[in-house]
Amino acid sequence: MDRKEACRRLEVCTGDITRLQVDAVVNAANNSLLGGGGVDGAIHRAAGPELLDLTRTLGGCPTGEARVTPGFRLPARWIIHTVGPVWRGGSQGEPELLRRAYRSSLELAVEKGVRTIAFPAISTGVYGYPKLPAARIAVSEALQWAQQFERILFCAYSEQDAAIYREVIEEFCQ
Ligand code: APR
Repeated sequence: MDRKEACRRLEVCTGDITRLQVDAVVNAANNSLLGGGGVDGAIHRAAGPELLDLTRTLGGCPTGEARVTPGFRLPARWIIHTVGPVWRGGSQGEPELLRRAYRSSLELAVEKGVRTIAFPAISTGVYGYPKLPAARIAVSEALQWAQQFERILFCAYSEQDAAIYREVIEEFCQ
């Protein structure tokens, strides 16, 4: 697929990822998969208690890997839980681990026949990853997978974060 067509499949939206009508939403989880704050907390609250009942049985998830569950009460059919790295200054393998978190999520989505998928800005909240380098990793990885999807959405939680994604997409796509 040419870069132009791949770029056309990326979208930026702003708001609460739990409300998106997509095949899969990606959760920025922690290694326990037992819920937490941020987007993890929002997804567990919106999906309902059956989600935790299920994630309790999964035995956790190593950083950089992903696990899939039904969306339960979410509009999305699937939730793909991935664990991004905690930012420790950038020389502890964080960039590669963040890339792996995006790649593992996209691989799992393809296995499930997902055509539309929404990502939060993994690791850029509690885990402290700087937003601009994280967005570059997210967009560059998504472009490599775009031909397998109709839409890959980056769901920012603020206008400022959305502007970062738009800037990065401009960098890769213009
Ligand atoms: N919808 C979309 N994005 C959201 C939402 C939401 N409802 N809530 C938060 N965000 C954004 C944050 O603003 C941030 O940009 O998601 C991004 C990721 O932030 P976190 O949720 O803090 O995730 P992360 O930095 O990966 O830290 C993961 O936080 O919630 C705990 O259990 C989680 O321990 C894990 C850690």
